Amino acid sequence: MIRKKGQVVRLETPNTTLVIKADKAEYLYYGKKLTSAGGFEAFYDSPRKIFSQFGGCDYTEYSVLLENADGGFSTAFEYSKSKILTEKPEIAGLPSSYGEGKTLELKYIDPSTKVCLYLYYTVFEDSDVIAVSSRIVNNSKKEIFVRRLSSLQMDLMGEYAFVTFEGMWGRERQKISRNVGKGVFYNDSKKGMTSHERNPFVMAEGKEGVFGFNLVYSGNHKELFECDGYGRARVLTGINDFMFRWKLLPGEEFAAPEAVVCFAPDEDALSCRMHAFVSEHIIRGKWKKRERPVLINNWEGTYFDFNEEKILNIARAAKKAGVELFVLDDGWFGKRDNDLCALGDWFDNVEKTGGGLKNLADKIRALGLDFGIWVEPEMISEDSDLYRSHPNFAMKIPGREPTRMRNQLMLNMADEKVQNYVVRVISDVISRCGASYVKWDFNRSMSDCYGKGIAQGEYFHRYMLGYYRVVGKITKKFPFVLFEGCAGGGGRFDLGNLCYFQQYWTSDDTDARERVKIQDGTSYAYPQVTMGSHVSACPNHQTGNSNPLETRFNVACGGVLGYELDMSKFSEEEIGVVAEQVAFYKQNRKLLQFGEYHRLGDAFDSALGGYMAVSKDRSQAIAVVAVNARVIGVAEPTVLFKGLLPSAVYEVTSRKQSNYEKDISFTAGGDMLMNGGYMLRGIFDDKEASANSGCIYTRMFMIKKCKN
Ligand code: DGJ
Repeated sequence: MIRKKGQVVRLETPNTTLVIKADKAEYLYYGKKLTSAGGFEAFYDSPRKIFSQFGGCDYTEYSVLLENADGGFSTAFEYSKSKILTEKPEIAGLPSSYGEGKTLELKYIDPSTKVCLYLYYTVFEDSDVIAVSSRIVNNSKKEIFVRRLSSLQMDLMGEYAFVTFEGMWGRERQKISRNVGKGVFYNDSKKGMTSHERNPFVMAEGKEGVFGFNLVYSGNHKELFECDGYGRARVLTGINDFMFRWKLLPGEEFAAPEAVVCFAPDEDALSCRMHAFVSEHIIRGKWKKRERPVLINNWEGTYFDFNEEKILNIARAAKKAGVELFVLDDGWFGKRDNDLCALGDWFDNVEKTGGGLKNLADKIRALGLDFGIWVEPEMISEDSDLYRSHPNFAMKIPGREPTRMRNQLMLNMADEKVQNYVVRVISDVISRCGASYVKWDFNRSMSDCYGKGIAQGEYFHRYMLGYYRVVGKITKKFPFVLFEGCAGGGGRFDLGNLCYFQQYWTSDDTDARERVKIQDGTSYAYPQVTMGSHVSACPNHQTGNSNPLETRFNVACGGVLGYELDMSKFSEEEIGVVAEQVAFYKQNRKLLQFGEYHRLGDAFDSALGGYMAVSKDRSQAIAVVAVNARVIGVAEPTVLFKGLLPSAVYEVTSRKQSNYEKDISFTAGGDMLMNGGYMLRGIFDDKEASANSGCIYTRMFMIKKCKN
C-alpha cells in the first residue's frame, strides 16, 4: 500500500514501512512496520537521502553522476512531482520483477540542463520487498553522458556490518561479514557477468535488524557501502561504473536495472521474504510453481568421452532408479571431443549421438525419460566452422591477440546480427531434439570487449541488452521447456537470469561437504527450487573427498535433486538405494522444493549446518542436519529446529538411511524442538564413515504434526 499526505509518502508492506519525504528526497524511516498514524515533522531535514549527486556539499559516494554538455559533472536535481502508479512500469530491454505492485514515481529536474531523474518504488506486499529503479531522461538540447546511475540508494544511520557472498569457481557465495568502521567498501564485478567472486546480493546488519539488497542484472555490478564521520551508512547498488560512459542524445533516456530491498528482524526472516519475492515476482512461466523433475546429467559420468551406447546405458540405469529426465551435456555437437574446439558448431556429432541428436533423444524418450540438452550459445571456438566462416562474430579487439579462457572466445552479443544468429541456431537445436529441458552454460568471463561502432564505455551493458534480447526470445519461443542457467557452476546466479531460467546450476563443486556451504550461502537470497544440486561420484572429482551415497542425497535435497555420475556402473544394491531416494524425493519434493526454507546452523562458522523446509500450514517439515567433523571427547552437537508451531506436538522420525543402523523416532512439542536443543545422539555412528575420507555426517528427519 502507498499513502501520500502532503509530501510525505508512506509505503507499507505487512511487516515493514518506508517513509519518504518526496520534495526533499529524504528517507524519514525504513524498517519494522509502523502502526501509529504518523507525525513525521520532527524527522524532517533527514541526512538520509534517496539519491545523491556531485555539486553540493555532500561528498559521500554519489548515486547519480552525469557528464554535462559543458564538460562539468555538477547537477542540482530539484523536486518536480510525484505520482502513484497502479501498474508497475516495465524497464525497456531489461528483466525486472512483475506482478501487482503499486508504484511510487518521483521526478526531479536539474534546472540548468532540464535533465530529469525518475525514481520508482514498487511495493510487493506478499513478500515485504520493495523494488526500486531509476531513469535519466535527457530533456536538454545537447548530448550528455551518464557516468553512474545507481539503481538504489539507501541511507542508514548507525553501525552496520556489511555482509557479502564471495568466492571463486567451485566455491561460490561464501558468507563474509565485515565491520567497515568509517570508510568505503565495495563489492563488485568487472567480469561482464555477476561472477563467482561476488554476488550482487548483500546485507547490512544493524541493531534494528537486517537489510537485504539485490539487483535484477547479470553483468558488471557494484554495491557500495560508505560510513561517513557523521554516522551515516550509505548503500548504493547498481551497474558498475567501471569503464561506464553512456551517451544520451537529446530526448534519449537511460534506465538502470531494478534493485530490490527488504528489511527483516533477522537473517532467517530476510531469506524467507526474499524467497517469496523471487518465487512470486521473478520466476516466470509454466515451471513457476511446478515440481521439478529428478534428472541425470552425464557430464561428470563421461565428460567428452561418450557414444550412444554409453549414454543409453546410463539412461537405462537411471530409469530403473526412477529418474525422470536425461540431460546430455557438453560434447554432442561438431567435433567436440575436448574443450579446444567446436563451440558455435551446433550441428549433431553423428558418431557420438549414434545417428544424430533426434535419434538419441527419441531412444531416451522410448526408455521413458524426458530429454534435455546442454548448450553454450554465447561462445565460439577458433577451431570451429562458425569461426572459419564468421570470424567477425567473435569478441576481439582488432590488432590485439585475444585473451582465451577455457580455450574459447566470446561472441559479440552486442551485435544484433550475432543475436539473431544465436536465436536461430539455438532454437533449431531445441526444436530438432524436442528437448523439454535446456542447460544454458557460460564458461568464461569477458575480456577484449569490443564491437565495431560501439563505444567502450557502453560495451558491457550493450552486451547485456543483447544477451537479454536473445534469452528473452528463446525462452518465450519454448514456454514448456525448463531452463537451467549455468556459468561454470554458479558464476551468473542472479535475479536477472532467474527472470528467464527457472533454475540455476549452483556450483561445479558437487562435494557434499562443500555444497553444504555453497547452498547455505546461496539460500540467503535465492529459493531452494532455483538451486540445481546433484549427487555425484566419489571420491569427488573436485575435492577428492568421499561421502556415503545417502549423505550426498541428503545434501542434494537442499536444492533441486539430480544425479551426475555414470549410473550404469552402479551395483544392484546401489541402484536400490537410489531408487529409494528418488521415490522418497518424489513423495516429498513439493515440500522440499517449495517449503519455507530455514538454515539450521551457520555453515561457515559452526560445527553444524543444514536446512529445513516447512509446509505453509506448519504441519510438516523435513530437516537435514550436517555435522562437519567428529571431535573426540566433545558431546554430539545439538540442533534447534525452526518454523514449527510452538504449541503443536510433532512426531519426528529419521529417514531410513542405508549408512545408519538405528532409526530415530520420538514426539516433542514444537516449542521444545525449536528451543530445547535436540542432541544428535548417534550422528557419528555412520557405518560408512571410516571408508570415506573427508566425510561429513548427515541425517534427514521428517517432522509431522500429530496434535495441535
Ligand atoms: C561447466 C558446467 O558448470 C558443467 O556442469 C558442464 O556443463 C561443463 N561446463 C561442460 O563444459
